[in-house]
Amino acid sequence: MSRTPKGWTPESWKTQQEGQVVHYPDEAALERVLQQLSRLPPLVTSWEVEALKKELGRAAAGEAFLLQGGDCAESFEDCSAEPIAAKLKILLQASLVLVHATKKPVVRVGRMAGQYAKPRSSNTEERDGVTLHTYRGDLINRSGFSPAERVPDPTLLLRGYERAALTLNFVRALADGGFADLHHPERWDLSFARRSRFSAEYARIVDSIKESVAFMEAVVGPDVPRLKRVDFYTSHEALSLRYEQAQTRRVPQREGYYDLATHMPWIGKRTAELDGAHVEFCRGIQNPLGVKVGPGFDEEWLVALAERLDPRREPGRLTLIHRFGADAVERDLPRLVACMQREGRAPLYCCDPMHGNTLTTEAGVKTRRFETILAELRSSFAAHEASGSHLGGVHFELTGENVTECIGGARGLDEADLARDYRSAVDPRLNAEQALEMAMDVARHMAAGG
Ligand code: PEP
Ligand code: CO
Repeated sequence: MSRTPKGWTPESWKTQQEGQVVHYPDEAALERVLQQLSRLPPLVTSWEVEALKKELGRAAAGEAFLLQGGDCAESFEDCSAEPIAAKLKILLQASLVLVHATKKPVVRVGRMAGQYAKPRSSNTEERDGVTLHTYRGDLINRSGFSPAERVPDPTLLLRGYERAALTLNFVRALADGGFADLHHPERWDLSFARRSRFSAEYARIVDSIKESVAFMEAVVGPDVPRLKRVDFYTSHEALSLRYEQAQTRRVPQREGYYDLATHMPWIGKRTAELDGAHVEFCRGIQNPLGVKVGPGFDEEWLVALAERLDPRREPGRLTLIHRFGADAVERDLPRLVACMQREGRAPLYCCDPMHGNTLTTEAGVKTRRFETILAELRSSFAAHEASGSHLGGVHFELTGENVTECIGGARGLDEADLARDYRSAVDPRLNAEQALEMAMDVARHMAAGG
């Protein structure tokens, strides 16, 4: 079977119905931007994309574990040293905790360097009788509430590409040496989390890792290069197909097309129609793909979708990111697994315990409860186990900063605390302390054989 499906081209998605469509008022300006974007160098390489696919294949087989996390939406404003380093730190810390517990490689994938576009449930937003276009993320328009700021601006596609490149440049440098050196995992400490109830447990893990590193070097000699750097991959929702298409290319000595804007694009819940533009675009690229699957999903749809996106049943190609919510997971997850088992498929299952558990407080603030997030995770582990399957990854919305957006966790944040430091323009994120606590719980669960 050819790697490029019959009838597919990088722009064949244009013949299909496009969900979350953006209307750019100036077509010529859009075209100019897309021309430029398609001439600029790629953000990632096909080698990395293939390496990630292989690792995800291992996770699907139970030999590795996927940790995917980052902001709901990155903002251009936060393209700056501190938030990026803090996010990398919390992801590294969480991965260390997971490695320690599972003794398996952890595949680290950030929601980073391109997570700039957001699906919205409404095309418009109304405030005090004024109705404007909804804010769709920094890649599309601006968040301020004025007509000019809400008009889709194609130059933001270029600004987004540049921010993604700057982010990636910094992340690669950090992941490549010094900072990510396993001899010094204490460098990843986030100062405010040092004061948390988990710092002692974390310190024990760090000591134990250092001991293992010393042991290994005593055996194989110093300067094991793999210990001085970590692999880190990027992912984002492939929502703006114009942006993705402009970075989609053939590369020498490989078959097929690669979306080189990110390692792992995913299809969001709102744009996963079988005949929709997003599925059409994604089926033709070689990248590993994520697909969000929500409560009440249709089994026929899922079977057909898996076939369309992964007809060759390639290991690591398909990750089903289930986000049922703590209420629906026990009903829908066994259905999901059974459906794939009937097809003889074993995709990678990754639990996103965030998006099915969003609530609005009486004061009108969007939040999530730590305990509910944890409940969905625990139920997911159990449901997979009972179905003869296994959970191969987790997907979090988190930040390395000390924000107060989710309720609960060891420090007992409550509704009143949300007002203190709520920064997300979209979904509420776990702060670093909550994320570490969550990782420790997952780790304990997995170490206990769950
Ligand atoms: C998201 O991941 O931020 C998101 C919008 O998720 P979903 O498509 O699952 O609703
Ligand atoms: Co979100």
